[in-house]
Amino acid sequence: MNGTLYGVGLGPGDPELMTLKAHRLISGAQVIAYPALAGAKSCARAIAADVIPAEAREIVMDVPMTVERGPAQAAYDVAAAEIADVLETGTDVICLCEGDPFFYGSFMYLFARLSQRFQVEVIPGVTSITTCAARAGLPLAARNERLTVLPGPLPRDELTARIKGAESVAIMKVGRHLAKIRDVIAELGYTEKAVYVERASLPEEVVLPLSEAPDKAPYFSMILLTKGADPWL
Ligand SMILES: C[S@@+](CC[C@H](N)C(=O)[O-])C[C@H]1O[C@@H](n2cnc3c(N)ncnc32)[C@H](O)[C@@H]1O
Repeated sequence: MNGTLYGVGLGPGDPELMTLKAHRLISGAQVIAYPALAGAKSCARAIAADVIPAEAREIVMDVPMTVERGPAQAAYDVAAAEIADVLETGTDVICLCEGDPFFYGSFMYLFARLSQRFQVEVIPGVTSITTCAARAGLPLAARNERLTVLPGPLPRDELTARIKGAESVAIMKVGRHLAKIRDVIAELGYTEKAVYVERASLPEEVVLPLSEAPDKAPYFSMILLTKGADPWL
């Protein structure tokens, strides 16, 4: 019998935000896999570091950070083949995923490659959006309100149009797009309603009004925006 591939959500960074199920699966793992972006240290591995058994085999998916999709897709092809070899021996593989695997998570690329051939189980995790909202003390949506999630790399015009038509907004993947996003929000007159959150739940966490955000944002940063004066009453 083949092994099962588990896509395990780890939450946003604080290991205490890992689910009990994630903790159990990682503790008992013989083989784990995780992405490491462009040769950098794996964020997912860092979250789970204290739980990973010392004797576990580790498959590192070295994913290049290029705008073109080809090189990253090739890296997932290589990783999927290596994971398939393990699954065929009947051993389970635990794939570590920052946040939730199916919420902007790279696990979906493995899922697409392997779920037709092998049993794949996805273990949901606490997402960065709900963590940033919790750390910023900013409820996201109530009653019939709509929450719009936007990736920061969107072109300026599209960001403007989508923020204009939205109620609550979460802008992810801020990083090098901070200046553009800040300009768009300022032009729309919403700066006072926006909060900047960096590395939520980690010791280095930063939560600031957008007007006080630093000039440079790391990849793990987000902007939350609620437009109503006091929309929750
Ligand atoms: C590829 S997505 C991964 C999302 C993740 N799967 C989730 O469930 O939240 C990466 C983006 O998530 C956001 N993010 C993830 N962790 C974060 C954290 N601890 N603090 C702030 N933003 C975070 C950032 O916007 C980052 O650019």
